[in-house]
Amino acid sequence: MAKTSKPLVLIVDDVPKNLQVLGSHLKQENMEIAVATNGNQALSAAQKTMPDLILLDVMMPEMDGFETCKRLKANPKTAEIPIIFLTARTETDDIIHGLKLGAVDYVTKPFHGTELLARVKTHLDLKLSREALKEANATKDRFFSIIAHDLRAPFSTLIGFSEFLIEDYTKMEDAVKRDIINDILSVSRQSYQLFENLLAWARSQTGSLEFHPEKIELRRLIEENISFMQKTAKEKEIALSSQVPENLWVLIDRNMILTVIRNLISNAVKFTPRKGCITLSAESIDHKCQVSVADTGVGIPDEIQNQLFKVGNHISTIGTENEEGSGLGLILCYEFIKRNQGHIRIESEPGKGSRFLFTLPLAKNTE
Ligand SMILES: Nc1ncnc2c1ncn2[C@@H]1O[C@H](COP(=O)(O)OP(=O)(O)OP(=O)(O)O)[C@@H](O)[C@H]1O
Ligand SMILES: [Mg+2]
Repeated sequence: MAKTSKPLVLIVDDVPKNLQVLGSHLKQENMEIAVATNGNQALSAAQKTMPDLILLDVMMPEMDGFETCKRLKANPKTAEIPIIFLTARTETDDIIHGLKLGAVDYVTKPFHGTELLARVKTHLDLKLSREALKEANATKDRFFSIIAHDLRAPFSTLIGFSEFLIEDYTKMEDAVKRDIINDILSVSRQSYQLFENLLAWARSQTGSLEFHPEKIELRRLIEENISFMQKTAKEKEIALSSQVPENLWVLIDRNMILTVIRNLISNAVKFTPRKGCITLSAESIDHKCQVSVADTGVGIPDEIQNQLFKVGNHISTIGTENEEGSGLGLILCYEFIKRNQGHIRIESEPGKGSRFLFTLPLAKNTE
């Protein structure tokens, strides 16, 4: 994900004076600095802080810059971080060796401030563009895989059921016909929801989704929405209720937040066994409104919790009654909550249940 905060540059040099000079140049340009005075320190600092760029001195005792570079490139975690060598030697052989090891550029000592900054900025920009491209590509792949797989399956089911109904219509008992029509209805509903999510996501990715914040009373919005979902919950004998207090006014884009609530409730229903409970609540904390959707369902293992909101990871499991999904719901929730200046997180204990918590901006005056 593209960073919006200050870029972090790790400077590695065994001469403190150099660290100081380089550091002050970069700080003036609004960059964050981390420092290391030898190769080993550089390896651990790079892993820990994941800088956006590394300025690496070539001549250092024990492990020199070339060796350090080799090890950084060999570690998948740090391999993508661009490295610029700092070298006093201008011999082309050395520089070529460094570039072959995977460094993107070099600067020679003594430093020329403007040149150094120009190079650092170029490589920081390139890194951001690379990351944005990677994300755009993952989005595109995800999009096609959903269309190819998740929209195709319900269509073949619908066609199959309808053909069956037409072919054997006169021979079938009314109860059987009703069952088939019910199946057609439920598959159509599921695919419609997927289709709506897909369209919303496409609009958000192409930048054509406009953000229209309105002042809304949360309780009313949630209660209207819950009534639509009550039917699916009842089919699984799940108690779905709202404890959202009256008079909590938020400044939000109605459609985006409805999509979020609909997805979180639909997940809660999907991953909660029969006779479970789903509760929606909200409170005002730290000048924000915090909304919670809690269920008594299967829970989510710690290690996948952080991956659920990212496009590149295709995480989708079947529900307690084999309900299928495409893994798009939470990605949309993350995107829309972010657009509404909020934050979404998960608290969950496998076997006991999950709670999705998100924040929304409070509207200034209550009515
Ligand atoms: N309330 C929940 N309880 C347990 N697991 C959950 C819950 N919500 C989400 N998950 C896990 O996160 C995964 C991703 O959820 P997400 O809503 O993004 O996709 P999906 O429900 O599988 O498909 P879609 O929403 O696109 O129909 C789910 O498949 C499930 O593994
Ligand atoms: Mg879902």
